[in-house]
Amino acid sequence: MTKIKEIKLETERLILRKPSVAEWDFVYNNITKNKDYPRFTTIPMRYTKEMAKTWVKKVRKEFGNESYVFFMTLKETKDPIGNMGFNEIDKNTNTAKIGYITSKEYRRKGYTSEACKALIDFGFKVLKLNRIRIEHVPDNEGSKRIIKKMGFKCIGHERQCIKSGDGKLRDHLSYDMLRNEWNPNKVRLNKKIK
Ligand SMILES: CC(C)(COP(=O)(O)OP(=O)(O)OC[C@H]1O[C@@H](n2cnc3c(N)ncnc32)[C@H](O)[C@@H]1OP(=O)(O)O)[C@@H](O)C(=O)NCCC(=O)NCCS
Repeated sequence: MTKIKEIKLETERLILRKPSVAEWDFVYNNITKNKDYPRFTTIPMRYTKEMAKTWVKKVRKEFGNESYVFFMTLKETKDPIGNMGFNEIDKNTNTAKIGYITSKEYRRKGYTSEACKALIDFGFKVLKLNRIRIEHVPDNEGSKRIIKKMGFKCIGHERQCIKSGDGKLRDHLSYDMLRNEWNPNKVRLNKKIK
């Protein structure tokens, strides 16, 4: 896998960049305001400021090596609207796993899909990954739609395999894509600008 320490990804409306230490408060507010994350992710329900600070330090330390977690920011205002990245990279198999959370007020405008397309492109073309994987709990309709749109292949349904942030055991639908299957021209972005 190619390693790149300083990188920004640019899309039509977004810049994806490394978070700064001072931006832990965005992470904290984003997580605690989004009431659905404990159902759809493993982030604990009682999320604290300390957890946000630790998380930002961790992703900065790992950036360009064990993981690549970006802030999605608006080009126009520079405001962060969520985070997305390869939050696990297995160097043995050259496989990375995608994760994302978008702030409530910026959802259903096509931003996450736009960022995801750029991230996959970066993963295969620049990092030279061989495989990208992603998963969602079955009733996460937004995430499911993004994953299908990108062209991921469903590889299984694991039952009660994760403990979500609300403490419940939930199923996961797992998907993957190999480098030779990626076709950005087939991904139709449906941008919903207010
Ligand atoms: C899942 C999530 C990232 C979707 O973000 P988003 O910015 O709304 O995604 P997009 O605007 O790119 O929408 C993608 C598609 O999903 C659809 N969609 C989004 N949310 C939806 C919902 N709750 N129900 C049904 N469809 C939904 C959009 O309409 C769009 O469809 P289209 O391509 O046909 O127009 C966001 O809801 C989120 O952060 N959820 C909480 C954290 C989470 O679930 N993370 C993922 C864990 S796997």
